[in-house]
Amino acid sequence: MPRKIFSGPDCDDEYDDYDEYEDDYYDSDEAGQGDIQPPVKEKESLKNSSNKVPVLWKCSMCTFDNHETMVYCEMCGVFRESFVKSAKDGLIKGSINGVSSDSGTYAVSSSDSAKIPAKTGTTNFHGDSEKKCAITSNDKVNSTQLASVGSSSGTGRKKQPIIRPEEDVPVERTSQLIADHFQPMGDQSSRASSSAQNKDSMQTLSSSISELSIEKNNINVTKPYLLEDYKAEEWMLADQASGMLSQLNLAIVGHVDSGKSTLSGRLLHLLGRISKKEMHKNEKEAKEKGKGSFAYAWAMDESTEERERGVTMTVAVAYFETKKYRVVLLDSPGHKDFVPNMISGATQADAAILVVDASTGSFEAGMNGAGGISIGQTKEHAQLIRSFGVEQLIVAVNKMDAIGYSKERLEFIKVQLGSFLRSCNFKDSSVTWIPLSAVENQNLIQPPSDARFTSWYRGSCLLDAIDSLQLPSRDVTKPLVLPICDVIKSQLTGQLAAFGKLEAGAIRNGSKVLVLPCGQEATVKTIERDSSSCSIARAGDNVSVCLQGVDGNRIIPGGVLCHPGFPVLVADYLELKIRVLDITVPILIGYQVEFHIHHVKEAAKITKIMALLDKTGKPSKTAPRFLKSKQSAVVQVKLDGAVCVQEFSKCRALGRAFLRSSGSTIAVGIINKILGQYQN
Ligand code: GTP
Ligand code: MG
Repeated sequence: MPRKIFSGPDCDDEYDDYDEYEDDYYDSDEAGQGDIQPPVKEKESLKNSSNKVPVLWKCSMCTFDNHETMVYCEMCGVFRESFVKSAKDGLIKGSINGVSSDSGTYAVSSSDSAKIPAKTGTTNFHGDSEKKCAITSNDKVNSTQLASVGSSSGTGRKKQPIIRPEEDVPVERTSQLIADHFQPMGDQSSRASSSAQNKDSMQTLSSSISELSIEKNNINVTKPYLLEDYKAEEWMLADQASGMLSQLNLAIVGHVDSGKSTLSGRLLHLLGRISKKEMHKNEKEAKEKGKGSFAYAWAMDESTEERERGVTMTVAVAYFETKKYRVVLLDSPGHKDFVPNMISGATQADAAILVVDASTGSFEAGMNGAGGISIGQTKEHAQLIRSFGVEQLIVAVNKMDAIGYSKERLEFIKVQLGSFLRSCNFKDSSVTWIPLSAVENQNLIQPPSDARFTSWYRGSCLLDAIDSLQLPSRDVTKPLVLPICDVIKSQLTGQLAAFGKLEAGAIRNGSKVLVLPCGQEATVKTIERDSSSCSIARAGDNVSVCLQGVDGNRIIPGGVLCHPGFPVLVADYLELKIRVLDITVPILIGYQVEFHIHHVKEAAKITKIMALLDKTGKPSKTAPRFLKSKQSAVVQVKLDGAVCVQEFSKCRALGRAFLRSSGSTIAVGIINKILGQYQN
């Protein structure tokens, strides 16, 4: 039944503030670390090649000569018509190489207009929404394919050619652009070594240009507006009188085997979302496979591999209703290997349930990892979820039956975990502790009945705690931002559905949306929420959007649907403010990391450590040579491929980033500036 979210191996989180600063660093000059410039993308080669094309207009910003058919400057992305007006208004302050971080202008990336490489990210479904979910989650092959094509696969990812309308650019010039594009940026040695490969790519790509058929009128050339100019329409604002329950995105996180799926399955069963027949089938089959204790977990863990291994691998999405909310349950995997999937799913959370195994030894493993020498996923997930911006947490202390419903053990857990949660910046008042037993159905949707429990427990049950959560504020009046976590293509009808949570704005049937990074415009045909169709979806809603008018190969998980007039940016060079977590190897310039942001990950390199930040966020005057645990710093990061991003100050959901290395989250951060908007 649940829909599954798969992100591929590895991911991470970030914090909103930075504390614990140690004044122990060296001057970067001493270390001989020169500045690494943001990648100036082939300005010279573009200029040379431009000699071969008819010149009809010169960009007054960067003086680049553009072909008459170009509506914006190929070099700096400034629009031909809007430039003069914008410049007069003082709106365009950006440099040729980057995007001004403070211009307040949502400049359309020069990577728009179908220039960004598309990654195929589709899988198939047939028919109704229940079936879609079942097939997506059950079909391991599909799910794996989706993951491998849908999310950046780190170092292995290959860039693809820039695709331009054939008639716009003569072939020899396009070849030059392609060759330029294929040069690794910022690293001269690797640039040289890859030249032969680039040449091959160039030839292959040139020869296949005639096959590329990007419709000219599909390319977005919408004039960018100032965010302040945006005015929400009346239909976008929530109708308080509609009586509709609000949607609450609730992530279930915690250490492996703490009972997350069992608790989720049990809740769904108690609330009538799983039929008796289905439950009976799960019980029978689980018993036959010698996994009787996983019967409830199987409601969430649907794939053969998950069931055989007894481990959740992908995030399962299921729905239920409380008195106050339509809850979207995001059951995350707890195993260390699947933290990236956990990030992709749980990044949509408004609030979270952190499930802790109370049994002796198991709680400790969740805190300190196997052997007590590392960090367990109770801690890692708590850090991550906080860095997603989640402030409200329910700690479900599960398996109370295994410790005889001991009040003392609960108090011990509260002290140990409570102090860690405080260090993660969770406020005591925003954390609710609910002891329970998923297996024995104690304290889930009604007060406990076991005498050992009732003798001392006077608190709420889990369902009441969920109803006590407050909805975070929603950016309904801002332009649409919908990060795509999943894409499904119907083999039968050819229809395309994009899944994700609206982080800002609203859509309705017939709305025009811009699909990034490919830059094509599409029309919303239908919308589904909680597996039922609806005509409007607003910020906070987790939906599937059926789209028309977009090439199925160019809409990908990790992409973003946005308002055509207010596109988010597509960039590959960023300045981050990070907080380093517990690491064993210091972070140096040149350090290779996995960069995670909303539903995408990309191989990246730390190109510059600019300054340490003190407790007040003030940067140090000199740059450190390396970073160690618990330091906060400003760094520059160069990604192997461009991703959809926004500065944190403009859009939180697209401005939170996580750095991972060797299977661990090493830093959480926010995007401070966008230095290199994607150029081809
Ligand atoms: P991952 O998703 O792989 O991280 O595991 P999980 O947290 O979803 O745990 P799951 O629900 O798969 O349960 C793991 C084991 O814990 C199963 O054998 C469950 O029967 C058992 N379990 C879950 N809840 C309880 C409980 O309340 N009491 C006891 N005694 N066992 C439980
Ligand atoms: Mg599970």
